[in-house]
Amino acid sequence: MARIPKELVDHIIQTADIVEVVGDFVQLKRKGQNLWAPCPFHNEKSPSFSVNPAKSLYKCFGCGKAGGVVQFVMDVEGTSYVEALKYLAKKYAIEIQEEEKTPQQQLEQNERDSQFIVSDFAKNHYHRLLLNSEEGMSIGYGYLKERGLNLSTIQTFELGYSLDAWDDLMKAAETAGYDKKYLEKTGLTVIRTDDQGKDTGRRYDRFRGRVMFPIHNISGRVVGFGARTLKRDDKMAKYLNSPESEIYHKSDVLYGLFQARQAIRTQEVCYLVEGYLDVLSLYQGGIKNVVASSGTSLTEGQIRLIKRYSDNVTVLYDGDAAGIKASLRGTDLLLEGGLNVRVVLFPDGDDPDSYIRKVGDQRFTEYIETKSQDFISFKTTLVAREASNDPVKKAEAIRDVLHSIAKVPDAIKRQVFLQQTSATFGIDEQVLITEYNKLVKTASQKAPGGSGNAGSYGQGAGSANTGFPPSNNPRSAPAPRPMTDEEEAEMLMYGGHEATVEILGAGASFQPSAAKAEADDDTPDMLQVCEREVLRLLVLYAGREVEEEISVAAYLMGQLGENPLQKPLYAEMWEICRQELLAGRFPDARLLAQNEREDIRQLITDLATERYEISPNWRTKEIYVFNEVDLPKLACDNAVLRLNKVHVQRELDQCLEKLRHPLDDVEMFEILGDIKRLKELDNELAGLLGTVVGRTA
Ligand code: CTP
Ligand code: MN
Repeated sequence: MARIPKELVDHIIQTADIVEVVGDFVQLKRKGQNLWAPCPFHNEKSPSFSVNPAKSLYKCFGCGKAGGVVQFVMDVEGTSYVEALKYLAKKYAIEIQEEEKTPQQQLEQNERDSQFIVSDFAKNHYHRLLLNSEEGMSIGYGYLKERGLNLSTIQTFELGYSLDAWDDLMKAAETAGYDKKYLEKTGLTVIRTDDQGKDTGRRYDRFRGRVMFPIHNISGRVVGFGARTLKRDDKMAKYLNSPESEIYHKSDVLYGLFQARQAIRTQEVCYLVEGYLDVLSLYQGGIKNVVASSGTSLTEGQIRLIKRYSDNVTVLYDGDAAGIKASLRGTDLLLEGGLNVRVVLFPDGDDPDSYIRKVGDQRFTEYIETKSQDFISFKTTLVAREASNDPVKKAEAIRDVLHSIAKVPDAIKRQVFLQQTSATFGIDEQVLITEYNKLVKTASQKAPGGSGNAGSYGQGAGSANTGFPPSNNPRSAPAPRPMTDEEEAEMLMYGGHEATVEILGAGASFQPSAAKAEADDDTPDMLQVCEREVLRLLVLYAGREVEEEISVAAYLMGQLGENPLQKPLYAEMWEICRQELLAGRFPDARLLAQNEREDIRQLITDLATERYEISPNWRTKEIYVFNEVDLPKLACDNAVLRLNKVHVQRELDQCLEKLRHPLDDVEMFEILGDIKRLKELDNELAGLLGTVVGRTA
């Protein structure tokens, strides 16, 4: 690959700022000397992907992808080294003198590169025709002007026109020396087959006499086209689209995202519309944070894409019945992806494009701002409209809303939504929760182990916090391996509390608690494990800052109070550290190792040396350890939450134990009240822990 001289390669690599380059694809946040983001190569909600600007390296501690700036572009784009260099050169306006390619060099280009290149050629060809050919100018450009689009928008989105002829693109590509194989592979030409589906050897251009909408991937490369006919012929499809190809996976592309991504980030919300023209009209009207699902229903991949830039989505759909249905379908998936969803409906008969043209940019923006509703109120309004006084319909409607709530991966958000729903419908929250638990239970029975996050009310941690289950997208994380015994024990410990949920719901069935079984014989006592972990962080990292001006020691003491540890030796150690801190010193491990007491000295040594094998129950140890060094706050939060959760769990177990014995009604209700309170606390902790543990899982 000697097409780009070595000096130029070095120059490109030196010029490229890895933070900028990576920042075009994910939202980086600085923590310590590195920057962090959810990994663009595998599905995760909380960041284990890091960029080290000093070393110009990136590394994902979840999926292991790592490298320099060129490797990043290769990974994210799936292109060759040379194409990645070209991408960077273009970004930094560095000119590359391209030498004539020999046939050998052409062969060296990988398949994807060739398809990108031919798509780029087609895009330029169509664009030229739109602005420079007679047919293109009068028919294509004329149409776009009539639709209110100006030249700047046309250029930003690189719109084009395909001549009304059978072989215009094929001929042009041949003249320019492109291999027709790639026109076929990208679907730009159609292979004519006979009745038996056999290739007749004849070819023709797929797109003829249409306005062309190039579809860009997030780095701005054209991967396919949408093409609108200008004829009013009902027999002809209004839009033709490129078929799937090696470079075009429809489910992983959103129209307009390349042009919208910076605005989505700065506006902190992504507007989601249906059509190409909706995107163009809004963009031109100054609402640049807009993307389209292009008429198909949303996919998980598309939602993951949005999430790279913002957690907030506002769905702008037509006000007709079909539009409402579509937006409802869409919202559930968005919710499942962990996004905050709002919805705007337009007056019947209008779509975003027609509406902005009707009322102008200013009033359109106002409309969105005042009319957007969170999905709960949106659904309830709809439902209220339909159900009015019919109690059967109302019950149906409520179940519908609960169904959506069940999709929300975040336990605390679910709780808030449940409260909100209970208020809106004027229904007792407990009744709603009972109904909710029934619904979730039947859902999980119908799809055993299936549907993403059919957790009962509040079952926060578990797998739910990752949003979607791993897809079979080759870029996503490898399939989960089976759990080890320890992990299973931990899952039981932190994840499965069906029994208590049942008490809140329909009542009745109890199970021996997982925590009790756990504490038996040779499995480690979770309370002790968690106490020890807190102590270990305190001793090893006392003086490090969790955030500005706050040390690990101060932070832990602030979170846990004066005397949080039960095991006497640990409690003594805690007190020693606390006294040190009060005396204005950090409890330094080396200093403490001088302590006169043998058992204290021994504990210090143990704690200081066991950092790489904390407990058999800690999953993915390396990552965890990495996090604690680089992200002490994360480690502290994790440890504190775990300890608190063990306490809550113990109390819950005690309550459950009491319920086994004969009780009078008053005692019974007192205990049930306690259980409810503890359960809520437990849920909250599970939710919080989910967000912390998620980063290491
Ligand atoms: N679409 C498609 N194939 C069709 C019809 C629609 O792929 N036969 C997709 C296109 O991506 C289109 C979107 O669905 O942009 C929304 O369809 P529609 O609202 O009918 O199209 P608009 O983009 O609004 O186009 P226009 O306003 O010109 O009718
Ligand atoms: Mn339209």
